[in-house]
Amino acid sequence: MNTRILTGITTTGTPHLGNYAGAIRPAIVASRDAAADSFYFLADYHALIKCDDPLRIQRSRLEIAATWLACGLDAERVTFYRQSDIPEIPELTWLLTCVTAKGLLNRAHAYKASVDKNVESGEDPDAGVTMGLYSYPVLMAADILMFNAHKVPVGRDQIQHVEMARDIAQRFNHLFGQGRELFTLPEAVIEESVATLPGLDGRKMSKSYDNTIPLFGSAKQLKDAVARIVTDSRLPGEAKDPDSSHLYTLYQAFASGEQLAAFRAELLDGLAWGEAKQRLFQLLDAELGEARERYAQLIAKPAELEDILQAGAAKARRIATPFLGELRESVGLRSFRSQAQVAAPSKKKASKTARFASFREADGSFRFRFFGADGEELLLSRPLSNPQAIGALTQRLIAGGADALELREDEGTQFTLWLDEECVADSPSYADPDALDAAMLRVREAIATLAQS
Ligand code: TRP
Repeated sequence: MNTRILTGITTTGTPHLGNYAGAIRPAIVASRDAAADSFYFLADYHALIKCDDPLRIQRSRLEIAATWLACGLDAERVTFYRQSDIPEIPELTWLLTCVTAKGLLNRAHAYKASVDKNVESGEDPDAGVTMGLYSYPVLMAADILMFNAHKVPVGRDQIQHVEMARDIAQRFNHLFGQGRELFTLPEAVIEESVATLPGLDGRKMSKSYDNTIPLFGSAKQLKDAVARIVTDSRLPGEAKDPDSSHLYTLYQAFASGEQLAAFRAELLDGLAWGEAKQRLFQLLDAELGEARERYAQLIAKPAELEDILQAGAAKARRIATPFLGELRESVGLRSFRSQAQVAAPSKKKASKTARFASFREADGSFRFRFFGADGEELLLSRPLSNPQAIGALTQRLIAGGADALELREDEGTQFTLWLDEECVADSPSYADPDALDAAMLRVREAIATLAQS
């Protein structure tokens, strides 16, 4: 199977140049790898956690969808969809919620940050914290596990969430997998080489600093933004230091080696900042100009975008629907019809299955006998103080299965059953070693039939 790469884009805001260089461009390059199947989706359920303005939600989904396609994402090749078009995702979220420890979510950074802030300002710790924010990692786990992604490219702030998805997957596999890996354990991938762009003021480009360069504004908007990049006060003709200039860093993220060397030489040679900005604008415009036109066309035809995303959802659901069916089965949400079919024959078998029977001794202690399918008594336990202990013991024997049973021969006429270095049960006496061996085999077989049912 190809490596499955999956990542989600929260649909808040409008993509800027930093998003492009840091996430969109590398993801599109990665999606062309023939050895990978890529899943990219708009995490619009996640967007609802942070935003209660329907118009902004709608606008951002449209812009982000158009951005990815305009930048060259091939929707035929990858699976590109909106989270909210896949009803299996919230359904899986519930199945996962039921196995997720509350304590795990208490440790999530995003939630903890909100609590810390509240505590600092003397508020109730959970003031303003919704269940959406609190359960955010479970929804994200469902996004990832729904498609059994191997690799999840994310920013550093999301590593913890991918690790939580792993934890939740492991727990679910353990509880319901019956030895099978229902879910692939995902791994976060951090692209070390990817550029984190500085914004206009030199700090990391981010909407929260209001220092962004728009990705698909008009050419004029791009030019105006570049003009606002902060530089030092060196005059035209004075040598500029490229390495302390974030204008240079921005240039670097888009230039070829040759272009960069030429630009560097010009700066050292005293190129005016105004000229340098003109060079950067031209470079950006050359890289983004065509995509900007495609973007404008896409935005102008939202119905076509809708069709593309619907096709993507159908493609995703060809995987999600049958897989969720399997998961429902695994937790016991099964059709009564199939149960009726299964239950009838197994009832007949029930009268002929091996079984444990526990009972109370006259002295108040408890024991069990273990019978083979034909009713033969195979084992009698040592006394225990309460029926719960008997229950726990028999459960462990069944769960361990035939191979884990530790049977020890005793004097050639009897054998004993051991668990944790303690003798827990004795067999009846047998006439000779062959009969003893045969009886030990019958014990293993009888346990094996219970482990399967
Ligand atoms: N939480 C991610 C972010 O804010 C977006 C996201 C949602 C995501 N679901 C995902 C990323 C699944 C990777 C995989 O960046």
